[in-house]
Amino acid sequence: MEQYIIKGGSPLVGEVEIGGAKNAALGILAASVMTTEPVIIENLPDVRDTAVLIQAMESIGTRVERLDRHTVRVNAANISGYTIDDGYIKKIRASYYMLGALLGRFKTAEVALPGGCNIGSRPIDQHLKGFRALGAKVEVSRGMISAKSENLSGNHIYMDVVTVGATINIMLAATLATGKTIIENAAKEPHVVDVANFLNSMGASIKGAGTDVIRIKGVERLHGTTYSIIPDQIEAGTFMFAAAITKGDIMIKNVIPKHLESISAKLIEIGCEIEEFDDCLRVAAPRRLTNTHVKTLPYPGFPTDMQPQIATTLALSEGTSIVTESIFENRFKYVGELQRMGANIKVEGNTAIIEGVDSFTGAGISAPDLRAGAALVLAALVADGISIIDDIVYIERGYEDFPEKLTALGASIEKVESERDIQKFKLKVG
Ligand code: EPZ
Repeated sequence: MEQYIIKGGSPLVGEVEIGGAKNAALGILAASVMTTEPVIIENLPDVRDTAVLIQAMESIGTRVERLDRHTVRVNAANISGYTIDDGYIKKIRASYYMLGALLGRFKTAEVALPGGCNIGSRPIDQHLKGFRALGAKVEVSRGMISAKSENLSGNHIYMDVVTVGATINIMLAATLATGKTIIENAAKEPHVVDVANFLNSMGASIKGAGTDVIRIKGVERLHGTTYSIIPDQIEAGTFMFAAAITKGDIMIKNVIPKHLESISAKLIEIGCEIEEFDDCLRVAAPRRLTNTHVKTLPYPGFPTDMQPQIATTLALSEGTSIVTESIFENRFKYVGELQRMGANIKVEGNTAIIEGVDSFTGAGISAPDLRAGAALVLAALVADGISIIDDIVYIERGYEDFPEKLTALGASIEKVESERDIQKFKLKVG
């Protein structure tokens, strides 16, 4: 079993290059099957989630060629099936974007029902409501969702909750429906905008992405394109907190500072220094950080995907902090692991009450999910002694070369596979 072994203590200093946005990439990859012409996608992050979605696309006859590590050419001219089976959806929930993409292009699609995930119940009622509003007959039976329509036609759809997944999925299907679709109370996340921009570069007519009303004029067909994915807001945010928690000084390159404003604002509030440039940000933490209150909210609010990283940082900051999770109900599973490292955190419902402590101690811990796993890495980077993190497969779903990027900033971290590797690391770090 692969694990990370980390010796804490060094402030992280230097430069790091941020990759393409994983959650934009998943929508864009799915959308790339909506044309018979070749599509080139650049700045694609080389992480497990994108690799799995590419396999799902290949399983129905899409040809995906890797031109280099971060560029693929997708050719979906010869798609031979419309069913994405259980295996892929179990590995990666975002396979459900294939439902919207295939429904749009072929007016028929079948995808396994996404199972319960470890950050909350994550219903998909809004996706199904949207497809039905476009005129699809949607059935859920024997663990599969099937959506079919003779003629998808535009409609006015009001989302009951702000949801990234349903906004993107409905946008995909509506792009090739006849007539106009209006999505109200749409999600405004940068990756929703990026998927819309990608579809527009293929000939779609989508306006208003990034506001809460998206207007889509259906088109008959989409054409090929070359498109570069935006930088990953959450990978960037994670390195911003890596600078903060280790009292380091990191230049975070290839970012869109506007997408990071809610994160920068909180870091400044707790005592960090931030310098903004056109496409990079410098974060430094010259002194012990202080407490704050934070509530996760849809964009432009503070992202739920940064909640474990800020809570972990606040657990070492002075004073009492309160972190409220308003998007997913089960996103505090990492707190037990942090407590084992010495954190003083009490969770009541969707709120964590954090009393800052002076230090953490290294421990054997497990990553409960992707972002919580990254937060535990941050905790280990600053803990006294050595930590070993299990279940790093979650972290690899969304962070490319995480140990390598941290090592280049001065961290002592390695991916290990055996007791022998662990002993070697311990001998090396002394
Ligand atoms: C996306 O998940 C991201 N995943 C998540 O990133 C992220 O945490 C989340 O958006 C919020 O920003 C991808 O983009 C692949 P939602 P998604 O639909 O689309 C409720 C990561 O770590 N809801 O915006 O599944 C839902 O329960 C991951 O990279 C319904 O009620 O999230 C939640 O409370 C984890 N009905 C809220 O909406 C629905 O039909 C927001 O969920 C759909 C959602």
